[in-house]
Amino acid sequence: MAEQPYSEKVMDHFMNPRNVGEIPNASGIGTVGNPVCGDVMKMYLLVEDEVIVDAKFKTFGCGAAISTSSMVTDMVKGKTITEALTITNKAVAEALGGLPTVKMHCSVLAEEALRSALKDYFVKIGKPVPFEEKQHSHEHGHDSR
Ligand code: FES
Repeated sequence: MAEQPYSEKVMDHFMNPRNVGEIPNASGIGTVGNPVCGDVMKMYLLVEDEVIVDAKFKTFGCGAAISTSSMVTDMVKGKTITEALTITNKAVAEALGGLPTVKMHCSVLAEEALRSALKDYFVKIGKPVPFEEKQHSHEHGHDSR
């Protein structure tokens, strides 16, 4: 077998993903996709008093997409909205012990799904969305995806 390029944590979150599912009464739902690989991620957040009390996801995608969805939903639970807004794809990848360079875009999908769900939350409560949509495409512009 070829050498495993993934960290143990990535493998663990891929084999035993946390927080898989839906939240029926979610405060915010975000769906994002990567048109290059075709993977799709849907994230659900339950917010009470500005704190994310629950987070779940459904990902139709590669192993790294599943691992990063699992990790990001774990990371946001118990955090305030303001704290959750500071989570980057790099932080998610680092929490997983790193990702191969060609798989960093999968962590970008996790960050985008989180932001999309947060945006939906702000729209639902009738508040202005306090961040700009990020354009990530150039961050690793030379990657072959
Ligand atoms: Fe598409 Fe990983 S290959 S998100």
